[in-house]
Amino acid sequence: MTARILAFAGSARRDSLNKKLARAAHAGAKAAGAEATFVDLEDYPMPIYHGDLEVASGMPQMARELRALLLAHDGLLIASPENNSSISALLKNTIDWLSRDVGDGKGSNSGLAPWRGKVAGMLAASPGAFGGVRHLPHLRQVLAGLGVTVVGAQVAVPKAHEAFAADGSLADERVARQVRSLAEAVAGLAAKLRA
Ligand SMILES: Cc1cc2nc3c(=O)[nH]c(=O)nc-3n(C[C@H](O)[C@H](O)[C@H](O)COP(=O)(O)O)c2cc1C
Repeated sequence: MTARILAFAGSARRDSLNKKLARAAHAGAKAAGAEATFVDLEDYPMPIYHGDLEVASGMPQMARELRALLLAHDGLLIASPENNSSISALLKNTIDWLSRDVGDGKGSNSGLAPWRGKVAGMLAASPGAFGGVRHLPHLRQVLAGLGVTVVGAQVAVPKAHEAFAADGSLADERVARQVRSLAEAVAGLAAKLRA
C-alpha cells in the first residue's frame, strides 16, 4: 500500500535552509514510491496559541486546514531549525494548535487524531556546527507524546548555508543519501502501518 507523506519545515522564512531540506526529504519520499506533499507553513499563518482566543473563536481556520492535511497523511518529514537549543516557536505553536480537540473531541475530532499512529522522520539544518541536532530529542519527545512513532534515524546538516547547490539540491552526496534513506524508512514504515 502506498504511504501518504507530508513534508514541511519549522521555518516560514523565504530562503529557509530547512525548507530546502524538507523539499529534499519530500523528493526522497517520492523516489521511495510514496505519495508525497510539501507544505509551506508560511501559507498557514496562525496566532500564538492562547486559551481565551480558543474559547472565543475555536481553532483558527488555517490551523483547521493544516489539521485536515495532517489527517490525510500517514507519515511526516519535518525539517526544522533549532532556536536556543530547542524547537522553533513556529513549529511548537503549530503542533500546539493542531493537538487541540475540535467539535465534540471524539474520533477524528480528537486532538490526537492528526498524530496518533503516524510515522515521522526528523531533520534539522543550521549554519552552525551542530546542525540543529540538539533540538531533535525535544521534538522526538513532543511527537512521541502525541502518539507518533519517530524513526530512530535522524539527519542534522551543519554549515547548512554551504550545503545546497543553486537548484536546491544537497551538494554533499553523503548527506543526500542520509536524507533519501530517512525518507525511505518513513515511507516504508508508514506503508506497513497503513496496510
Ligand atoms: C532566536 C534564534 C535562536 C537560534 N538558536 C540557534 C541554536 O540554538 N542552534 C543553532 O544551530 N542555530 C540557532 N539559530 C540559527 C538558526 O539555526 C538559523 O537562523 C537558521 O538558518 C534558521 O533556519 P532557516 O534557515 O530554516 O530559517 C538561532 C536563530 C535565532 C533567530
